Amino acid sequence: MNAEVSQLGARSVTARAYGKINVFLSVGPQRADGYHDLVSVFQSLDLAETITLSPAAETAVTLTGPRADTTVPLDSRNLAVQAVAALSEAAETHIPVAIMIDKQVPVAGGMGGGSADAAAALVAYAELIGCDDAELLARIAAELGADVPFALTGGTAIGTGRGDELVPVAGSGTFHWVLATSVESLSTPEVYRTLDELRCETSAATDDTLHDPDDVVTALTAGDPHALAGVLHNDMTDAAIELLPGIADVMESGRQAGALAALVSGSGPTVGFLVADPTHALDLTVLLEATRGVRDVVRTTAPAGGAHLVIG
Ligand code: C5P
Repeated sequence: MNAEVSQLGARSVTARAYGKINVFLSVGPQRADGYHDLVSVFQSLDLAETITLSPAAETAVTLTGPRADTTVPLDSRNLAVQAVAALSEAAETHIPVAIMIDKQVPVAGGMGGGSADAAAALVAYAELIGCDDAELLARIAAELGADVPFALTGGTAIGTGRGDELVPVAGSGTFHWVLATSVESLSTPEVYRTLDELRCETSAATDDTLHDPDDVVTALTAGDPHALAGVLHNDMTDAAIELLPGIADVMESGRQAGALAALVSGSGPTVGFLVADPTHALDLTVLLEATRGVRDVVRTTAPAGGAHLVIG
């Protein structure tokens, strides 16, 4: 064990961050850096990723919890590992850590679980090394991925640029969601690529102007699920369905079963159903669990908070 590790003894630090849903996603043209400009309205979901960092001889990742999934990389492709490495580098404090990730956010579903891991790891590692530079954490978050800054701040926010330039929204109330994950997975870059292709092929879909989310913000501010159901929007929907046509059937099943609205979550393939209350959520869960192509059904609420330390 190196000197810095033994100085810290066996101290472990735990932090938590949450998944998200994009209740509005307008995608513009591709930029020179490969990313797309977008306008997004994020709400954090009450599905937590809990990360515990313990000083160790070398960095290693273990997964636990209801959504521990063998497809999650445990090496340097893991965003929590990248977060620790980036902060360690910036702060010039090299303390290897064992990273334990307790997963509640379904993997690879467009709900920002990996980004939440990065945000929680940043907060935990900052505490471990005694770094209180919030601006540094925000800067590293934006470098790690377009959704990591929102995982850090949580709540409700409008994102522009790559989705990482955030303005908080003062939402009210609690929204109830049922999320149906898919037995298949989608690659985010591939969904963006398909969207670009569809826009080239069909004149109707060449509209890559960015739209503003005023109606969505009004519904969120009022805490009104019926109003929100009428204005939920995701430009990625057709591209996700093009790659995985079963998504359209899952959306239709949920609508027929009384969901207020169906929405592809981010780049998919998870479908989010907005429901009026917890009773509707339960009814819909039972139906979706028996629907073809659905892997897992999760009930949750929005908004939740940002990344924070878990004390005790
Ligand atoms: O930033 P992140 O690693 O989450 O993005 C994954 C991929 O999604 C990017 O490499 C890019 O292909 C695509 N993307 C995009 N425009 C955005 C966000 C993501 O094209 N605003």
